[in-house]
Amino acid sequence: MNAPVHHQTLVTPEKPKALAAGQFKVTARDVDVFYGDKHAIRKLSIDIPDRAVSAFIGPSGCGKSTFLRCINRMNDTIPTCRVTGDIKVDKNDIYDPKIDVVQLRAKVGMVFQKPNPFPKSIYENVAYGPRIHGLAASKTELDEIVEKSLRKAGLWEEVKDRLQHPGTGLSGGQQQRLCIARAIAVNPEVILMDEPCSALDPIATARIEELIDELRQNYCIVIVTHSMQQAARVSQLTAFFHLGTLVEYGDTDEMFTAPQEKRTQDYITGRFG
Ligand SMILES: Nc1ncnc2c1ncn2[C@@H]1O[C@H](COP(=O)(O)OP(=O)(O)OP(=O)(O)O)[C@@H](O)[C@H]1O
Ligand SMILES: [Mg+2]
Repeated sequence: MNAPVHHQTLVTPEKPKALAAGQFKVTARDVDVFYGDKHAIRKLSIDIPDRAVSAFIGPSGCGKSTFLRCINRMNDTIPTCRVTGDIKVDKNDIYDPKIDVVQLRAKVGMVFQKPNPFPKSIYENVAYGPRIHGLAASKTELDEIVEKSLRKAGLWEEVKDRLQHPGTGLSGGQQQRLCIARAIAVNPEVILMDEPCSALDPIATARIEELIDELRQNYCIVIVTHSMQQAARVSQLTAFFHLGTLVEYGDTDEMFTAPQEKRTQDYITGRFG
């Protein structure tokens, strides 16, 4: 009699499971973006898995921020901007006119390059979203959401004794974690981060990178970065953009060791950009 065959799992723990299962949180097909006559994104298609960090890299002006903003319709706020093609979050067309954009931006939160707390207290920065979305039935519940969000953002211990102080009085790194807490407070599923560490020192950057690594257990995270080292440290997948096109998207380790395309190779070895 043959001994039973033990199948080895083909998915390494580091590989996002969603990839193996073929489940994607964000899918885009043939997306074009124009600012007036300027064609900023060309026929871009991508499938972004859940519970993983995807890094967008590429030279300045290649369209990273433009495409990132498409994912929660932030480009709607730019009058000259026109988006065509198809973008879905959880299989729902986010450009459907029936979509409530305020709800969409709660589900697909955003953290910007420059920390931008509201000119309000630390507490109010985090409580604002849950309040307008009616997520808390009482003051106690709101307090709980604020504490939980600040804990998840790794800021609670530093601010718990001064919740009524202005958010703008925190250090840059703390302000950025406050902005992450603010995004988390409304139960997002996707978090978009556009160069979230570029205004921060190396210690604050390391703190945010640790946080991103913890958050990926629960969220689909997309981060734009100019730092190859950062992309390699925090992401499981990397997308290389060039001149408004997505050149390639795949496993971060493979991208940095054996990219498919010469343009990617040239960029990551510093030959242009
Ligand atoms: N509001 C705007 N109006 C007109 N053109 C714009 C606007 N925003 C971006 N663009 C243009 O679209 C193209 C893509 O810009 P985008 O900001 O997406 O690039 P990026 O890859 O994020 O660059 P960076 O790394 O410098 O942030 C660029 O040519 C840019 O000049
Ligand atoms: Mg940008």
